[in-house]
Amino acid sequence: METLEVLRELVVLVHLTGFAILFGAWAVEVYNRRVQVTPLMNIGLVISAVAGLILAAPWGISDELNYAKIGVKLVILLVIGALLGIGMSRQRKSGKVAPALFWSIGILTLLNAAIAVIWR
Ligand code: HEM
Repeated sequence: METLEVLRELVVLVHLTGFAILFGAWAVEVYNRRVQVTPLMNIGLVISAVAGLILAAPWGISDELNYAKIGVKLVILLVIGALLGIGMSRQRKSGKVAPALFWSIGILTLLNAAIAVIWR
C-alpha cells in the first residue's frame, strides 16, 4: 500500500470515530431515557465533519469519488449541526428539547452512515 493510501485509511478511521462518538453519545441518552442533546454529540459531529471534508478531496484513491453522495451527506450533516445548535439553545433556555428534534439527530446520523455504506 502507498503512503497516501494508508494516510487516507487513517482519516477514514478518524471519520468513523467521530460517527461513533456522535451516535454513541445519542444512544447513551436513549438508553437512559433522557431527551436531551449533549456536548459530546457536538464533538463527534465536528470530528466526522472535519475528517469527512478531508475525505471529500480526491487523494490516496485511484477510482472516482461519488460527489452526489458526498453532497447529500454534507447537507444531512449540516442539518444535524443545526438541530444540535437549536437543541443546545432551547435546552439552555427552557431545560428541554422536543422529542422530534432529539430523535431526528440519531435517525439522520444513522441515515448518513447508511448512505455512506450502501450508496456506492
Ligand atoms: C454524521 C455524519 C456522517 C456519518 C455518520 C458518516 C459516515 C461514514 C461512514 C460509516 C463511512 C465509511 C463507509 C465506507 O468506508 O464504505 C464514511 C465514509 C466517507 N465519508 Fe462520511 N459520514 C458523515 C459525514 C460526512 C461528510 C459531511 C462528508 C463530506 C463532506 C463525508 C465524506 C465521506 C467520504 C468521502 C467517505 C469515503 C471514504 C473513502 O471511501 O475513501 N462524510 N462516512
